[in-house]
Amino acid sequence: MALSKFDCKSKKCGPHRPDNEIEDLVDPKVKARMQDMILSNETLRKEQEIYLDNVNRGLKKETNPSAIIKCFPTYVQDLPNRTETGKFLALDLGGTNFRVLLITLADGKCDMQSEIYVIPKEIFTGSGVELFDHIAKCLSEFSTKYGVQEEKIPLGFTFSFPVTQVGLTKGILKKWTKGFKCDDVIGQDAVQYLIDAIKRRSDVDIDVVAILNDTTGTLMACAWIEPYCRIGLIVGTGSNACYYEYQKNAELYDEPDMGSGRIIINLEMGAFGEDGAIDFILTEEDKVVDQNSINPGGQIHEKCVSGMYLGELMRLRTLAMIKEGLIFQGCPNAQESFEKANFTSEIITSIESDHVNTYTNVKAALSKIGISDADPKDMTSLRYVCRCVSRRSAHLVAASLCVLIKKMDEPYTVVAVDGSVYKYHPHYRRVLEEKMKELLSGEDSKYKFKLMLSEDGSGRGAALVAAVAARKQKEQKG
Ligand code: BGC
Repeated sequence: MALSKFDCKSKKCGPHRPDNEIEDLVDPKVKARMQDMILSNETLRKEQEIYLDNVNRGLKKETNPSAIIKCFPTYVQDLPNRTETGKFLALDLGGTNFRVLLITLADGKCDMQSEIYVIPKEIFTGSGVELFDHIAKCLSEFSTKYGVQEEKIPLGFTFSFPVTQVGLTKGILKKWTKGFKCDDVIGQDAVQYLIDAIKRRSDVDIDVVAILNDTTGTLMACAWIEPYCRIGLIVGTGSNACYYEYQKNAELYDEPDMGSGRIIINLEMGAFGEDGAIDFILTEEDKVVDQNSINPGGQIHEKCVSGMYLGELMRLRTLAMIKEGLIFQGCPNAQESFEKANFTSEIITSIESDHVNTYTNVKAALSKIGISDADPKDMTSLRYVCRCVSRRSAHLVAASLCVLIKKMDEPYTVVAVDGSVYKYHPHYRRVLEEKMKELLSGEDSKYKFKLMLSEDGSGRGAALVAAVAARKQKEQKG
């Protein structure tokens, strides 16, 4: 998701202070109305128990078929140790922007060139052949631009959708998420689709050596710098996490241990709740967002957490409050404006980037939808709605991360994080960290952790997965 001109990175915003002061300024009636979006630690702990049970069910052969969190083994057993070298191509497909990267690893350094290509909606909701033809075309343009079209470079393919891997180079798509809908690919090997599309063009030659999820890429990219990195998290358009599990617990993993005894598990935790397990935290708006989505009943946790849905949750709740007479009562066109508006999570990032008691971004956001007469009380209320929506997301993510940290039972864990919500929202990181500390209190305070931004992880990680595989092969040969 691109940065909007209001984003926290804009120079105008200045450094962010904690936003807790807003609590005292909000109309008590608005506060009361938002109560259902505020999850107590008790509720979060209840959710954690269910989450852990779901993860364990996903890991076990017997229970996996009916498990909601699928815990896909990734075939990535080893983390990078910085001795990896070579030149790699990476494809990064996981949202409506698609990236091609050329990555060179040498002397412990990672050099990277990349291009972003847009995927038009008619393509990501059309046929798989068209989608992969488009990808192959972009790859060919990239190879020509960077003068590597004559070379056969190993390629890592970051494909950020639920995939059952059958080895490092074969990934069967289980379902699409994040608005994609090329149904013919479901049940098929995404790598084969890519290879076939490249063959159809015959102007580039590539060697696909790995398919991976963006969470795995994120973990690998940080592990290149931080040896204690054990979790990869994405909170962007979609949301998901992976972690470094012991092979003995990953019952679906059937390859020989190459020495680490561990394997990265792609949780696909966005699906959590598809069986109703987290209905107790869902609000009316969550249900409407789900019903109106391209995949009703699917990706329930993701719909509470990720950028694709946060703007809409905020819109729906604000609209409800307008109808109930709680907000924007002095703005005759507010209801109509909120009925028509189409918000992404950028609006939340933008509104919460205002300092408390200043209204620059909120005014700009409202004026875009035709509201120019809101008073400060309304703008504070709107900001509070945004705050509740984004904090609930961070709290739910915190709850899952703490479960994973405790499950791995290591004294210190680095969590690699990427995604537009985490990266650009002015308070998300702090709120996430604070909640994790709260949930890891008492005897769990022995678990220390660090959140680390993994910029470009999904692209760089693809090269690293390919490079680690090459290094291990060399080591095995002796
Ligand atoms: C996908 C995951 C991905 C996540 C973050 C979800 O919708 O199912 O595979 O890791 O989005 O991009």
